[in-house]
Amino acid sequence: MSQGWHEYALHVLAAFGALYLGKLGVGLLFSAAKKLVQGGGVNPTKYGKWCVVTGATDGIGKAFCFEMAKKGMNVLLISRTESKLVDCSKEIEAKYPSVKTKYLAIDYSNFDKASQDKVAEAFSALDGGLGVLVNNVGMSYPFPLYFHELSDEDVRGLLELNVTSTTIMTRLALPVMLAQKKGAILNIGSAAGLHPNPLLALYSATKAFVEYFSYSLNTEYASKGIFVQCHAPFFIVSKLSKFKRPSAFIPTAEDYARKALTKLGGEPVVSPHAPHQVASYLMDCIPESLIQSVSLKYHLGIRAKGLRKRAREEESKKSK
Ligand SMILES: NC(=O)c1ccc[n+]([C@@H]2O[C@H](COP(=O)([O-])OP(=O)(O)OC[C@H]3O[C@@H](n4cnc5c(N)ncnc54)[C@H](OP(=O)(O)O)[C@@H]3O)[C@@H](O)[C@H]2O)c1
Repeated sequence: MSQGWHEYALHVLAAFGALYLGKLGVGLLFSAAKKLVQGGGVNPTKYGKWCVVTGATDGIGKAFCFEMAKKGMNVLLISRTESKLVDCSKEIEAKYPSVKTKYLAIDYSNFDKASQDKVAEAFSALDGGLGVLVNNVGMSYPFPLYFHELSDEDVRGLLELNVTSTTIMTRLALPVMLAQKKGAILNIGSAAGLHPNPLLALYSATKAFVEYFSYSLNTEYASKGIFVQCHAPFFIVSKLSKFKRPSAFIPTAEDYARKALTKLGGEPVVSPHAPHQVASYLMDCIPESLIQSVSLKYHLGIRAKGLRKRAREEESKKSK
């Protein structure tokens, strides 16, 4: 009699266990599918006629300008070097004759009140509305370093370009977008912001800021017609990454920007290049302690190479 009761209890427990595991499995599949698909597909012109891109004359920013122009958006380019801004504007207008461009030379390492006023004035003069702001400008380390080894200039630059520029540009854009009752803000973070990165600590922390800032704002302003999204890519061919050739894992900036725009209006944090998205999903499944030790070893190797290269450069300067 008591054996029968035990058997019955075991069956009930097994049934609950199976149900629980089934629910867990379906939940995991659902979240993996959502993470991998990422949604999106909204045309940027839905938000307004103009797109503003910071760090617009090279790499990812320049690629975003061309991709936005291809979709029919007018483009306000903002960067540091005026001659490059003139050249880029001309290139865009030559390729897309129906698209208007404007440019502003701003140095985000010194984004003072006078520069902020220039941006605010430019925003209010965008006939047809400020549709999309792409906060792309940013900098990284010259190569992985212990935090105390960074120069004061690098520390200031990382904070100014990666955090202050995104924060202030967003504050300048929001009143315009709120008045229009629509707008989108794309903040270029990094996969380095998804997990802590030893020897890139400050870069990683500034990009984690970008992720949390964007995600919170997206929820905060959704009811007001404003969409905010953080991009968290791994490597992309550019001067900043120092990767010169694309591979399956490292897209060109043009390829990245094309894929990035297909995610507009989708998940609040995206990694539009599919292999990056798979990598970031897999990293979420690995214990953080393992990620930390692998990342430290990998960065120590690149640091050693960087230090050797720096020593060679200093040596050759001395001998001149
Ligand atoms: N490339 C990657 O692998 C990768 C991966 C993850 C995230 N990201 C992020 O993507 C963003 C763009 O990176 P990228 O690789 O395209 O960089 P990039 O190729 O080095 O381009 C930098 C752009 O920013 C401008 N810029 C630099 N300093 C400036 C300053 N002080 N004020 C104003 N403009 C300035 C440059 O203009 P000038 O030439 O006139 O200076 C140029 O237009 C960054 O936020 C970066 O963290 C990049």
